[in-house]
Amino acid sequence: MKLLFLGCLLLVSSYGFAEPFAGADALAGKALVEKHCISCHAANFGGDGSAIYTREHRKVQTSKGLVAQVRNCNTMLGLKWFEDEELNVASYLNKTYYKFTE
Ligand code: HEC
Repeated sequence: MKLLFLGCLLLVSSYGFAEPFAGADALAGKALVEKHCISCHAANFGGDGSAIYTREHRKVQTSKGLVAQVRNCNTMLGLKWFEDEELNVASYLNKTYYKFTE
């Protein structure tokens, strides 16, 4: 019984409160990243390109910084994403790589 309760707490904390982009659609973000972002990162950093998010001196240090970086890329590349699309992408990158909790 106690274990079950703990399990629920863990679930709530990983999917509920500890999510700076609550309400964003990470799956939709994943599709956008795969379509527009990965090939260049992979060309620059090798492999599947994800090393750019996990390298030691990565640029992005906070969830706010993550949104700002996604926004810069969006503008620089002329993708014309709406704000909710930027948040979906930030949510996906955060869940998968950065794991900021606030
Ligand atoms: C034309 C090549 C190119 C494309 C396309 C591109 N990026 Fe990047 N991106 C880079 C390079 C190069 C860096 C590293 C910049 C640096 O180190 O100053 C970078 C860095 C980043 C970082 C910061 C990683 C860190 O250090 O924490 C994020 C986040 C990011 N890109 C997101 C995106 C997203 C989202 C897209 C798609 C909209 C995208 N990028 C498309 C070249 C690209």
